[in-house]
Amino acid sequence: MKVENIKRICVLGAGTMGAGIAQTCSQAGYSVTMMDLTEELVEGGFKRIRTPLEKRVQKGKMTQDEVEGIISRIKGTTSLSEGVRDAHFVIEAVYEDMKVKKEVYREIDKASPPEVVFASNTSSLSITEMAATTSRPEGFVGMHFFNPAPVMKLVEVIRGSETSDETVALTMDLSRGLGKEPVEVKESAGFLVNRLLVPMMNEAFNLLMEGIATAEDIDKAMKLGTNMPMGPFELADFTGLDVGLAVMEVLHRETGDPRFRPSPLLRQLVRAGRWGRKVGRGVYDYRGE
Ligand code: 3HC
Repeated sequence: MKVENIKRICVLGAGTMGAGIAQTCSQAGYSVTMMDLTEELVEGGFKRIRTPLEKRVQKGKMTQDEVEGIISRIKGTTSLSEGVRDAHFVIEAVYEDMKVKKEVYREIDKASPPEVVFASNTSSLSITEMAATTSRPEGFVGMHFFNPAPVMKLVEVIRGSETSDETVALTMDLSRGLGKEPVEVKESAGFLVNRLLVPMMNEAFNLLMEGIATAEDIDKAMKLGTNMPMGPFELADFTGLDVGLAVMEVLHRETGDPRFRPSPLLRQLVRAGRWGRKVGRGVYDYRGE
């Protein structure tokens, strides 16, 4: 498959990342199918796309016609096989659980022509392991977008042990076509950005647990001292504490290195259901917003 032959992209999952990736593909001119399990979840995805775009219209940065154009190129579906049937490239952003992902891949493998590349947006799971459940491990790659996907410029292109050079090259080309800057990364726990970023956020939870400073001051210090747009807790709430904990657990398990031990406070907040903005409460409380 050549990048110029890719016209239709199927995005599996209409959550924060799935919807953001579908929007990114549509904004770049591709026809997109966005699939999730229920009509309600698919509708939720469309809402996630529409709300920030409407804000851009209000600010005069985009016209209503442009918004409708982006939305109209995205077709929603609740059927996996329908989603992948005509797609030239599949990007998966379903729930971050190996068992769930393997079930999805087993099913779409049967419904999708062999030349179609499967790209997983996983932030922590093994590309090689997912690829092994399909008949196309050489056509399987990681394509890790960053939240918010329509805004963040980076895509990590992750090479699993069986991923072919052609698949990596195609995914790098497609990423550029989506207006992103790709970086090629060999598969390893946390890939590149999360191996650096998430342990920093994890250490912020240790600082807070030890009573070294308040959450607000830790965020303020990192923003004013290092020019980060968000402090570590604002970012953890934005990306999801559950996601951060999953990344730390993979780093710890895969390397056996104690420096990657998840912070007990992070673990406790996740256990309490304080997963961040998406549930209204994480380190901070958003329920009044
Ligand atoms: N679609 C289109 N445009 C969007 C958008 C969306 N969904 N969301 C925001 N924008 C646009 C806004 O319209 C605005 O555009 P403008 O500059 O032309 O007016 C611009 O993006 C900035 O948005 P806002 O003005 O609403 O807000 P901020 O200036 O505060 O920026 C932010 C918000 C871009 C999220 C910024 O705070 C930021 O960069 N934060 C850090 C994000 C980050 O680090 N992400 C990576 C996390 S790690 C990860 O995702 C990996 C995972 O595996 C854990």
